[in-house]
Amino acid sequence: MKNMARRLLKRYPRLQDAAKLVMSYVDPRFSVSSQYVLLAKSKVSGEAERLAKSWTATSIPARQRQLVDRQLQDFAAGKSIEAFDAFVDLLRPHAQEGQSQSLLEIGCSSGYYSDVLRLRGLPFVYNGCDYSSAFIEMARSLYPGLNFRVEDATQLTYPDASFDTVVSGCCLLHIPNYETAIAETARVARNLVLFHRTPLVIGRPTEVFTKVAYGVKTIEIHLSQTLFYQLLADRGLKVVQTATLTTEQTPRGPAEVVSVLCRKSESSYG
Ligand SMILES: C[S@@+](CC[C@H](N)C(=O)[O-])C[C@H]1O[C@@H](n2cnc3c(N)ncnc32)[C@H](O)[C@@H]1O
Repeated sequence: MKNMARRLLKRYPRLQDAAKLVMSYVDPRFSVSSQYVLLAKSKVSGEAERLAKSWTATSIPARQRQLVDRQLQDFAAGKSIEAFDAFVDLLRPHAQEGQSQSLLEIGCSSGYYSDVLRLRGLPFVYNGCDYSSAFIEMARSLYPGLNFRVEDATQLTYPDASFDTVVSGCCLLHIPNYETAIAETARVARNLVLFHRTPLVIGRPTEVFTKVAYGVKTIEIHLSQTLFYQLLADRGLKVVQTATLTTEQTPRGPAEVVSVLCRKSESSYG
């Protein structure tokens, strides 16, 4: 019976994805994220406030880095890692040969996107910030030549237009005050802003879940696509290119995980 299931899963990769998804909802061993629970509207603000700092748990960096090291090893060997490929493909056309431009990643964790840039030869000068001091401590020890700061995405201390390119590194979905985080991201950028790996729901209002990530309960926000694009426009961000990474099936329907590259309009240049 087990062998038959294995054979079926091997033959039909889509079935494999669906099985992984079902297991990720119930069992933490099958995914970084598990145990998704959709929050009722009345529960959202209380839970969001309670869980807003959950990524600062000191247990997360070592667990995440274990996974990241494996991905970086594969990427260095030339294998495709969907999120890394999308990041490189979106930024490459804007990397000017022989000219280094500054890049800030907000929500940088241990700073591994600096390796992604280096491994594919993109000449950005990488800077990272994260609200977790445990992650920043790890980033500083792994990449002593780079600049890292402990910063909250909703109240950055960088002056306006500090970096040529700013990446919101898959963190918007964990920030209850996402509107301010978008405004801050746009404020510190001079030219380009990349919202990397952002789950959006299409044709439905924003949905908020609790989930377990790396063994810690946190929230995950799937923004309504309409609201997200409106918030970008409100901050003078014009969408240049988007990449759809995956489509996740959630209890309410599909959520597209997208990376959205924007240009800051000239009128909002610092
Ligand atoms: C899912 S990880 C993303 C890591 C990496 N940037 C990537 O794209 O794979 C989310 C990161 O956002 C950080 N984060 C969450 N809320 C934040 C906030 N309010 N300000 C700054 N960083 C935050 C977390 O500490 C964590 O390192």
